[in-house]
Amino acid sequence: MDERPIGIFDSGVGGLSVWREMVRALPHEEMLYFADQAHVPYGPRPAAQIRSFCETITRWLLGQGCKAVVVACNTASAAALKHLRDTFPGVPVIGMEPAVKPAAALTRAGVVGILATPTTFQGRLFQATAGRHASGVRLVNQVCDGLAEHVERGDPDDPRTLALLDRYLGAVLDQGADVVVLACTHYPFLMEAIRRRCGPGVTVIDPAPAIARHLAHTLRARRMLASLDSPAQSRFCTSGDAAPLEQFLVSHGLALAPQVASVALPEGDSALA
Ligand code: DGL
Repeated sequence: MDERPIGIFDSGVGGLSVWREMVRALPHEEMLYFADQAHVPYGPRPAAQIRSFCETITRWLLGQGCKAVVVACNTASAAALKHLRDTFPGVPVIGMEPAVKPAAALTRAGVVGILATPTTFQGRLFQATAGRHASGVRLVNQVCDGLAEHVERGDPDDPRTLALLDRYLGAVLDQGADVVVLACTHYPFLMEAIRRRCGPGVTVIDPAPAIARHLAHTLRARRMLASLDSPAQSRFCTSGDAAPLEQFLVSHGLALAPQVASVALPEGDSALA
């Protein structure tokens, strides 16, 4: 039994779509969520800079006593997952993988749309996953500039958000995709609008439940699960202001009275930050 918390981070609120699945899959685990809102968005940043942020955050989470770290951000996983595993050997580090494998199994049209930030598509992780699982399937890779920022601002029904979403989804659907993968953890907060725009003939995949199951499996295999009677609580920290994160949690029904703290992390390699 291991009662230490699980650390989880993202550039901002997106990782909360993974956190809520982790809470569902592992209701007895304490969790510590870190939103790097001083640096959001990660999408347009160089990979080396994202790696530096991720290393600083992971070091901090481990310093807070976390037993495992979930990189709840596709962009950060693309840029830093291997680096984090090399830098912190022995610590389970779970990352986001674009769900190309289930998408390829589901498509009947042979066309899969993937929505993500530019860094996610550039990373070796995506190239390797696509190369391994997408044979015989056409992947339509759609960079969704600005979409995560709209989610971050907290209004999924804003007409500007919906117009942007319409443009990106339209480009993918016009190419005949019948499966759409949300390869950015911010996008599941737009799920209602996405399903509306896609219609019933298109399957939309949010990889978060699979990531939560993978985490549960990893902790069980390493005998690192918490005991069943331990109280399950989550704490939330941000490198930005606490109030907007708290408001997002409450307005999206994710927590009633969340504990949110603002934390200043060292800037690491300041030439990169
Ligand atoms: N949530 C992040 C992801 O999954 C991206 C948002 C950002 O650009 O910071 O890719």
